[in-house]
Amino acid sequence: MDINVTARLPKTIENACQILFVFDDGKLKGAARKIDAASENALKNLFKSGDFKGNCGETLLLHGFAGASGDRVLLAGLGERQAAGLTQWITACQAAAKCLVETPATTAVSDCLVASPVHGLSASDQTLHLAKILADAAYVFSLHTLVKKKQGKALRQLMLSGDKSSLEDISVAASQGVAVAAGMATAKNLGNLAPNICTPSYLANLAEEMAQSSDLLTTTILEESDMESLGMGALLAVSNGSRQPAKLIVMNYQGKKRKGSPIVLIGKGITFDTGGISIKPSATMDEMKFDMCGAASVFGAMQTLLELQPDANVIGIVAAAENMPDGNAARPGDVVTSMSGQSIEILNTDAEGRLVLCDALTYAEQFKPSAVIDIATLTGACVVALGDVASAVIGNNQQTIDALLTASRKSADHCWQLPLWEEYQQQLDSNFADMANIGGSKAGAITAACFLSRFAKSLNWAHLDIAGTAWKSGADKGATGRPVPLLVQYILNK
Ligand code: BES
Ligand code: MN
Ligand code: ZN
Repeated sequence: MDINVTARLPKTIENACQILFVFDDGKLKGAARKIDAASENALKNLFKSGDFKGNCGETLLLHGFAGASGDRVLLAGLGERQAAGLTQWITACQAAAKCLVETPATTAVSDCLVASPVHGLSASDQTLHLAKILADAAYVFSLHTLVKKKQGKALRQLMLSGDKSSLEDISVAASQGVAVAAGMATAKNLGNLAPNICTPSYLANLAEEMAQSSDLLTTTILEESDMESLGMGALLAVSNGSRQPAKLIVMNYQGKKRKGSPIVLIGKGITFDTGGISIKPSATMDEMKFDMCGAASVFGAMQTLLELQPDANVIGIVAAAENMPDGNAARPGDVVTSMSGQSIEILNTDAEGRLVLCDALTYAEQFKPSAVIDIATLTGACVVALGDVASAVIGNNQQTIDALLTASRKSADHCWQLPLWEEYQQQLDSNFADMANIGGSKAGAITAACFLSRFAKSLNWAHLDIAGTAWKSGADKGATGRPVPLLVQYILNK
């Protein structure tokens, strides 16, 4: 999607749809006011009749307005002027986008930044979300189907008018929005791919392809033999029960101007999680193909970085393995030694995410990172705690956590901090090893983080549990592309 930011919108644009964001008080400004005047108060009369109320998320598609820049006008309600904020803006943009993709329009036009500023948001904030949502709206997964699913019409262009002094900022925000949507599409595609296709080797090949297509990215793949040499007994214990070899994928993004110590992102890449010998129930087990969505978000963030090319240094590590039960699989009771030297009693083979992540955390130490963020669909307990609204953030460095919380507010990709208090650690006591890989039945999201914390002592570390936010179940089953917006915002803020 191309973005065009100008002080004044052109009078007529071919095959366009002019979006008019309006509050429920019916007060019309800018283009809405002009169109209303040119059409004998047709818009005001819509309000008067009650056919359009301006409720937040309400839309109405209209045709044939003389004063409009395109053949279509889309009214998008913002609700109460005083109550509107980021959440309402996003709701209105999503409703408008849903309506737009159903039309053949190739260009969206809006003067919303001037005519419908939302309380507490800058023009760039509004632009970032509008551009991201419009670019994301046309996503459909069609990598497996012979006949392409009925696809919405992707917009080719977004034209925005803005205040002269802020045109530059608006353009930057718009490019960020579009690049974030591209990163989300990468993450969604990887998440949605079938687990017989999206294997650890598939992810490794993708990383190599991405590196080949850009000077800013280099990739190193560690094979199981390399992991053995490094003593990654925890990661290998997960992979042992699978015919698919594990891969530790390292992607190094270096912006043109080199910047000090890198940020490391570590993604959980369990391409299918059966639970292993501690096998999961079969209902909805198919959804465990999404157990690599942490890894997918690392690929997505890398994709966005390659498009925006900021001066940053980001290393993405993907711990990719498949958790299967077979004759070579780890048993409950097995004791393995991690790369850190600490031994682990595997009491539940379904707590495999932490086993692959702990060795990746130790591996990350060599990069002397300024911060390490791991992203993982780690616990069902996190879904119980925060549902599908917020990811959990837990870590040993409040500055890193605060930076993530700030980025989450800006990107509206919500995360919420849970504590990492010492009192929780005793749940991991083992009679036979340095620690067990599971705690008791309580506070499961926190005890999983407690386990990881034991491998992050020398790091500024934060953990994102995205078990509730990375995909949707039910009729809308599919990956969400989260937390790519959060990760990108976090990196760009730095
Ligand atoms: N991938 C799952 C976590 C998960 C489960 C995410 C359901 C989303 C929905 C993870 O590997 C797992 O199985 N965790 C166990 C840990 C337990 C054995 C301590 C869980 O949450 O039940
Ligand atoms: Mn599991
Ligand atoms: Zn898992």
